[in-house]
Amino acid sequence: MKRTLGTCYYPEHWPVEIWEADARRMKETGLTWVRIGEFAWSRLEPLPGELDFDWLDQAIEILGQAGLKVVLGTPTATPPRWMVEKHPDMLAVDANGNPRKFGSRRHYCFSHGGYRQESDRIVTLLAERYGRNPHVGAWQTDNEYGCHDTTISYSDAARAAFRTWLMDRYGSIEALNRAWGNVFWSMEYASFEDIDLPNLTVTEANPSHTLAFRRFSSDQVVSFNKRQADIIRARSDAPTSHNYMGRITDFDHFKVGDDLDIATWDSYPLGFLEDRVGASDEHQRAYARQGDPDFQAFHHDLYRSVGKGRWWVMEQQPGPVNWAPYNPAPLPGMMRLWAWEAYAHGAEAVCYFRWRQAPFAQEQMHAGMLRPDNADAPALLEARKVADELVHAPEVSTLQAPIALLFDYDADFAWATQPHGAGLSYFQAVFDTYKALRKLGLSIDILRSETRDFSGYKVVAAPGLIYMSQDLKAALAETNAHVVLGPRTAARNADMVIPVPLPPDFPGLDVTVSRVESVRPDMPMALKGGGSLVGYREELEGAADVVWELEDGQPAAYRTGNLTYLGGLGDETALKRVYSDLCKQAGVTTMELSGGVRCRDTATQRIWVNYGSEVAATPAGTIEAAGVLFEQK
Ligand code: GAL
Repeated sequence: MKRTLGTCYYPEHWPVEIWEADARRMKETGLTWVRIGEFAWSRLEPLPGELDFDWLDQAIEILGQAGLKVVLGTPTATPPRWMVEKHPDMLAVDANGNPRKFGSRRHYCFSHGGYRQESDRIVTLLAERYGRNPHVGAWQTDNEYGCHDTTISYSDAARAAFRTWLMDRYGSIEALNRAWGNVFWSMEYASFEDIDLPNLTVTEANPSHTLAFRRFSSDQVVSFNKRQADIIRARSDAPTSHNYMGRITDFDHFKVGDDLDIATWDSYPLGFLEDRVGASDEHQRAYARQGDPDFQAFHHDLYRSVGKGRWWVMEQQPGPVNWAPYNPAPLPGMMRLWAWEAYAHGAEAVCYFRWRQAPFAQEQMHAGMLRPDNADAPALLEARKVADELVHAPEVSTLQAPIALLFDYDADFAWATQPHGAGLSYFQAVFDTYKALRKLGLSIDILRSETRDFSGYKVVAAPGLIYMSQDLKAALAETNAHVVLGPRTAARNADMVIPVPLPPDFPGLDVTVSRVESVRPDMPMALKGGGSLVGYREELEGAADVVWELEDGQPAAYRTGNLTYLGGLGDETALKRVYSDLCKQAGVTTMELSGGVRCRDTATQRIWVNYGSEVAATPAGTIEAAGVLFEQK
């Protein structure tokens, strides 16, 4: 597969006279793709029913004639002002009951029937007009579902739809009362019509109720997206995609991905480090101009899985952004490094966001490939370098990794519903495992929890799967790979109730979690031999072999055969010990990577990147700061 570059362009922001020059310059830079249209509804339909597609016809024609391929976005993330007049109750509602008003973007509730019809209508018009246009090479549905905390809405439309969803799921109100344990605090309902949304309660709502509402909210995103995908598919052969985000876990991306051809994501390494990696101040200072060395790779691997092998970076940070607490400029070379790292993980395309910096509105402080005065910005020069390198680069093809890491959005919903300790997060538990594996020099495949065939993997890591179906348990028990379970494996049933027999109740592994505790993160529990459990620990009992102990002699991990149960959240040292030990047993070679050096294996190469700000050594030679090194196999 040939790797490509692209950009995000807003022809409606610029005079038509410069579109041709822009297109020519994109082509000269070595770009293939240009994404357009995703926020342009007010220009496509200035007044209800009054359509103007001529400018978009012209923009697509100009870009196509220049030899570029268009990714056409549906504009539903930005319903125009008149839409809100027409459907005042379409606005999403926050947890305090306040409408999320017009004046920025994503101000719609996924459950609103009227808005769903408007979405169908505009998407149908676009797909009919451009579905067979030879310049349209791909589609994007909407833009960044969930961005700005918009998955969950406490609107009237959501309440009505939630009741129907519950009825379908439970069949009778008695079954729901039983499943949720509503006898507790006299919360029993007489009918589905009694059930409200789980906000504005005096104290915590029943976790079964909250989890159900999260699952429902996720399903609403899935069905909203599916309608768009179905409409496009019926009218176009070009692949469909959606641009996901970093560390957004409040809808099931795998389920959205089931209805699309390609997963894309928007990678802003410096913004993320400030905003959502959750790193220490020291780490943030060290990587302020490079980004966290593992956060991008994690999402590359995640979205490769969401896209069933096909994935892109749809938006790549091009310089300082506008939205993080601090917005530094990347070290020279990073915009090239990020692209090569994405290719190493299998990206088909990397598109820089955006073509030209807009001097107006919310993102005027967000860099582009061009400055507002049209001069080249550093991103353009680095993109051109990548484009030149791609001409001679061997084709990059992905390889099944030796290590599988399970990721499950539903587990994240459940941890968020009942974390049981400040800051405890499923995403963090999985990401910490990923980081430890990567610092051992390993390539990793992230798999969804519906996976049943683990053949080819040497080690399968499955931390934090708080609900685990019987058939996943059976598949993990049967695989030949070394499997690491815990903490919280199967700690709740499907309705968020503690099961009896107590967890994990796992076939072939005689271990029971007898009690759990959460503790302050500054009270680490040291393990004999190095490393600690931090923040959360389980007391374990059973007849399996104890393989790790705390300093005080309490068991921390049990093992039978190739099944290991780890009873707590390990720090980096602990996780590296667990996994290097298992890799040794499985015959997988590990390394000790330090600083910002990381690598990823493709079928023909090991591609090294250096997120550090100093020259670093690798087994394949030295690598400059913000550099990339290609090691032939
Ligand atoms: C993304 C979004 C873009 C733009 C960008 C700024 O989240 O999809 O439209 O806002 O961030 O960094």
